[in-house]
Amino acid sequence: QKPTRIAPSILAADFSQLGKEIQRLDQAGADLIHVDIMDGHFVPNISFGPAITKSVRSVTKKPFDVHLMISPVDLYIEAFVEAGADIITIHPEAGPHFHRTIQLIKSLGVKAGLALNPGTPIEIVDHVIEDLDLLLVMSVNPGFGGQSFIPGALDKISALRQKIDTTGKDIDLEVDGGINFETAPKAIAAGADLLVAGTATFKGGPDHYAANILKMKGQ
Ligand code: DX5
Ligand code: ZN
Repeated sequence: QKPTRIAPSILAADFSQLGKEIQRLDQAGADLIHVDIMDGHFVPNISFGPAITKSVRSVTKKPFDVHLMISPVDLYIEAFVEAGADIITIHPEAGPHFHRTIQLIKSLGVKAGLALNPGTPIEIVDHVIEDLDLLLVMSVNPGFGGQSFIPGALDKISALRQKIDTTGKDIDLEVDGGINFETAPKAIAAGADLLVAGTATFKGGPDHYAANILKMKGQ
């Protein structure tokens, strides 16, 4: 298993100073910046789109881990590549042909991820796993920060860990939702190597970001 990396979700940032917040996360030791895109249709909340993503891209060199919770998704892939995404993660339910969407992302030179909602069975990855750079286990239903970790996600992480190891490929196993100091070690023990954390990263304000990130890594 690879060393644990933390991807703070900027959904929990102060949007009135988003660029500054991303700089603070960079300095606090964030490994990637997790960018949650919500359309009010695929999920019951609206965040922001490619223009805002692009406007803050230049403040850090850390990879942008863009999580698209939008449907239909294909129409917007190119815009997020242009906005500076390094990884684009989609949900299989967000379009009629998710294999095609994965190929589209890869054809534009960006890493491709697939996100599994709590109710989505893991077998959905079977015919595309060789093409993926990342698998994302949702440990809450997508749409909002600050929800509680669904314990059933741990079994899915373990099962997907096995599937990834069987391929022998370098595929990140990411978990998203309700990650905090109690749930992070459980997710890592189950086999996750990339943890998204919104609420837990931003807890206590900017002076605490670095300590919060270290603590989630178990340090
Ligand atoms: C949920 C988003 C998450 C969310 C995580 O739909 O995909 O990335 O921001 O927030 P916390 O860490 O607060 O559960
Ligand atoms: Zn997310």
